[in-house]
This record gives sequence, structure tokens and C-alpha cells, in this order.
Amino acid sequence: MAYECNNCGYTSVEWLGRCPKCGEWDSFKGGEGDQSPPEDFVDEAPKPLSEISFDSRERIPTDIGEFDRILGGGLIPGSVILLGGDPGIGKSTLLLQTATNISSQGSVLYVSGEESSKQLKMRAERLGLNSENLIIYSGQSLEKAVGHMNDIDPICVIVDSIQSLRSSESSSSLGSTKQVRELGREFTRLAKKKEIATLLIGHITKSGDFSGPKSIEHLVDSTIYFEGKRDRNLRLLRPQKNRFGSTDILGLFQMTEEGLQEILNPSQFFAKKNGQSDQKGASTVCTVEGKRPILAEVQALVTPSNFGGSPQRRTTGLDYNRTSLLFAVLQKQLGIKLEEFDIYLNVVGGFKIEETAADLGIVSAILSSFHDNRIGNQTVLIGEIGLSGEIRPVKALNARINEAEKLGYNLALVPKANALEQGGTDSGLELRPVKNLKEAISKLRLEA
Ligand code: TYD
Ligand code: MG
Repeated sequence: MAYECNNCGYTSVEWLGRCPKCGEWDSFKGGEGDQSPPEDFVDEAPKPLSEISFDSRERIPTDIGEFDRILGGGLIPGSVILLGGDPGIGKSTLLLQTATNISSQGSVLYVSGEESSKQLKMRAERLGLNSENLIIYSGQSLEKAVGHMNDIDPICVIVDSIQSLRSSESSSSLGSTKQVRELGREFTRLAKKKEIATLLIGHITKSGDFSGPKSIEHLVDSTIYFEGKRDRNLRLLRPQKNRFGSTDILGLFQMTEEGLQEILNPSQFFAKKNGQSDQKGASTVCTVEGKRPILAEVQALVTPSNFGGSPQRRTTGLDYNRTSLLFAVLQKQLGIKLEEFDIYLNVVGGFKIEETAADLGIVSAILSSFHDNRIGNQTVLIGEIGLSGEIRPVKALNARINEAEKLGYNLALVPKANALEQGGTDSGLELRPVKNLKEAISKLRLEA
């Protein structure tokens, strides 16, 4: 815990009224818990709200549709975004693609504290990117990076990463929370002062720690996480805090040989392809992420468990507690002795389903595997299951139905409890309202 002079950066273990180094009064801020933003952000004359104008065309589009959607249309000059994620997930790749796109509108400075300019060039070549307006500074000095910002006067700065730069005036060590906070303050101050759209990369350490970058969350305008598993190609942009956009949306990408590609039609990506042979133990559900309905495939494998041992329960992409509850409902309502079986559940494509509207699909997949019966290839299952086996209503049913219809599904089981407007759709997607689990499984012919 140290206090720091706002004027000259002198640090002291105790709070001092006057700095012994530069003589400034009341300049000590600090301690580790200090969350106060830098004071010299902006200083405008007060004016009536009605006289303040804002031009939405001021946004700088990244021309990456999924990123722009999250940003609410593009980067705002002077805004600061923290991009967090595991090492190797693709943060540098995403921001190099972003930087190149933006450089068609003005200079962009890419501060690389982690990779040499040659390494960045290699990545750019692999991605087929090139630009005269994208300036790479490979180095770890904050002061030099700031100097280049002053010289180049960019519209956008990318800092890769906030843990890899250091200030020569600071005694704190590289990557430490204190150092990250100092850098965060400095880049935020410059962003506001010079109206530079600033993207700060922060990574989660090997031990899963994100506390350094998280400590500047209150300073930045948005914190966005880049998520995924390294052995899969699905990548998700998930806004945690989003001052100029919604937190209710996800950006979907695929990591390919040619860099990150947007997933423009998620349902096609995650759900069973039409005409593909249908498997036992597979069902299609429709989940709503933000406002976007996404069809996804759930797979179940039910096999007799080793006699005497406790049965295996493995789930990937589903909430474990929720599936445990569904097992209990299945057992109680249908009298199936699930304790004699191992159950494996998986969501195809690495997608994670958190919504209870997928309950009916999960249970149906289990029954399909259990009874060795197929669920029709073009059937989508929508409904939450209550403890007594009733099918409970879901939100945004129409959006889900429309999505299924768009992808050529021909049957949808939906909760009777949703006030239904129609019994079918124009394109021939038939709706079958169901009241409880028993009714649903008889409609799917999933009985023994
Ligand atoms: P990177 O952007 O370096 O991740 P981060 O900055 O988050 O640490 O991406 C690293 C991984 O992405 C690396 O394992 C290789 C892979 N990759 C591709 O699959 N395709 C590509 O076009 C690129 C550039 C990287
Ligand atoms: Mg990187």
C-alpha cells in the first residue's frame, strides 16, 4: 500500500500533506484501494443538455460486423475498451484485423509489448492484411508509446497488452496490478484528452487471474471478454460492461486458418444440418442470446453404468445443476431408473446453453438415447420443464419459431402455456403445443 504524488509520482508509505520531492500541496492520492479517476480528464464549460450535440456518425466502424454490433455501431473517439481473454484465444488476431480495417479512416498505432514487429508482420501476412496507416511500435515503454501517440496523432490506439508495458517513472513491477492501473489511467487520460479510440488488451494469467486488468474496469467504458476453448474454433465476444452498447448480446466467431471469421448464421453453425442423417440421442433446441434466437443441437448418450459403481454424469455446454434437476424430474415423472445408467450430455460446436427453454430438448435427447429412438430431423423442441413435469412458457417464442422456420424445420413442440396466436406458419412449420412431459414424449414417440 503506497500513496503517490499526483504531480511528480513520488511514492510514500504514508499519506503526506505536501510532497517532499516537488513541494506540491495535497497531491497525494492512493493506496491500493484508491479508485479515483485521473482528475485532468476534460474540463469543459458547463452547458445545457439541450445544447450538447452528438453525431452518431462520429463512430468509427471496425467493419467487423460482430464487433460493431457489440460496440453499438463502432468505436467512439475518446472511448476506452478493455478486451480480456485467455492467452492464445485470438485477442491479438482480432485487434490486428480491427486495426487494419480502421486504418482506412486514419492512422492507427498498434503498441506491441508482447511480440516483435516481425512477429506481427508474420501474423498480418497470414491474415492477408497490409496498410500504410497502421503503425506498429514494438516496445515496452509507456513513455515512448505516449511519445509516438503524440507524434502520430492516431484516431485509434491498440495496446497489446496492458500487462506488458511499464512506466520508467514507476517502481511497480511489470504486469502488477499497480502498474496496470497506472497504465490504465494514463491511456484513459490520453484517450479522453485527444479523443483517441483506445483498445487495451488484458489477459487472464495461466492461473486464471484477471485481477490486474479488472482493477481498471471502473476507468474504461467497456469491458469485453473474448472466450472460447483453444481446442475448438468457436470464439465469443461477450460484453461485461458496455457504456455505448448493450451487454445483452454476443459476438460469434470461428478461428480459421485465415484468422477470425464471423459466424453470420449461428443456427446453421450449431444446429443439425437439414437432410443430414438424424442420430439417436440428438435433439434441436432454440435458445435466445440477448435478442437473437439460436438453434443448437443437444446430444445425449445413455449407457448402462458399471454395476456397483456410482453412475457417471458428464455435461458439456449445459448447466450441471439444471441437468441434475431434469434427471430427477425424468425419474419421478416417468419412473425411469436413471441411477442404473451413465449419462453424457453435450452441446454441439462448443456452444453454451444457459436457458431453461432448452429443458424439453435436453430431456428428449436423453429419452431418445435411452429408448434408442430417433427424434425427427426437422423437429425443434422449445419449453421449460417444471418440477411436476409441466411444460412452462418461454419468452420470445415467436422469435424462436421464426428462426426454426427460416432454417426449414417442419415441426416445433412448444409450451401450451404460451398464448399461441397461430397453429402453424406460412412455410409449413407445424406447431404442437404441449402441456406436460408425458404429452411431449408421446408426440415425439419417445416411449419404450
Ligand atoms: P492470438 O491472436 O495470438 O491470441 P492472443 O493474442 O489472445 O494470445 O492467437 C493465437 C492462436 O490463434 C494461435 O494458437 C494460432 C491461432 N491462429 C489461427 O488459428 N489462425 C490465424 O489466422 C491466426 C493469426 C492465429
Ligand atoms: Mg496476443
